[in-house]
Amino acid sequence: MFIVENDLVGLIRYTHYDDVDMYRCWQDIETQKGYNGKFTQTFEEFKIFQVKQFKQGFKFWVTIVDKRSSQRVGVLRLGLDEICPDLAIWIYPRYRNKGYGTTSFSLALKYIFENYHYPEISAGVYENNVYSLKMLRKLGFDYYPDGDVLEKNAFTGNSIKQLEYRITRTRVINLCSL
Ligand SMILES: CC(C)(COP(=O)(O)OP(=O)(O)OC[C@H]1O[C@@H](n2cnc3c(N)ncnc32)[C@H](O)[C@@H]1OP(=O)(O)O)[C@@H](O)C(=O)NCCC(=O)NCCS
Repeated sequence: MFIVENDLVGLIRYTHYDDVDMYRCWQDIETQKGYNGKFTQTFEEFKIFQVKQFKQGFKFWVTIVDKRSSQRVGVLRLGLDEICPDLAIWIYPRYRNKGYGTTSFSLALKYIFENYHYPEISAGVYENNVYSLKMLRKLGFDYYPDGDVLEKNAFTGNSIKQLEYRITRTRVINLCSL
């Protein structure tokens, strides 16, 4: 059933069945801050948007399932860049700070490097996203300053930096074999 799994979670393909959970997740202000954008879509608009997203042909777009409870706890999606795609994550609000983010991101990295040719994976994180930064550093990502992007903070109007972090195939394979 799972594309890949560890003791705690399994990853399954994202389908439109997950749109309701994802819509609720986007309504959460911390999710919006995590992606520096105010979310104002109706559910009908969101469903149409998701169909358009599907058509873009993401290779890796998965829902994270807790294996003990069978609850769907979040989503991961790999971007479309051919050299160093970005891995994005959304843990649904009620499931945060329970380790799901770290364990599922790690599992996804292992799966991606074992199944696709990418030499590196990136993750863009806003400078104020403390929990995401903790997660990336713990997983062995390195800060890649050349990838920094200065944006306008959608909530305060001040400037905010999106930091780029990267991890190489070799790093993940070595960590997995420890
Ligand atoms: C960022 C996010 C993915 C982290 O997922 P998570 O499952 O909550 O993270 P984890 O439980 O694995 O915790 C990661 C670290 O953050 C800490 N943390 C997470 N939530 C916390 C909280 N509410 N209070 C204190 N610490 C917290 C954990 O203690 C852990 O630190 P540690 O390794 O030093 O113990 C999740 O908060 C999320 O989906 N946020 C909204 C969307 C977003 O920002 N996505 C990322 C865009 S780059």
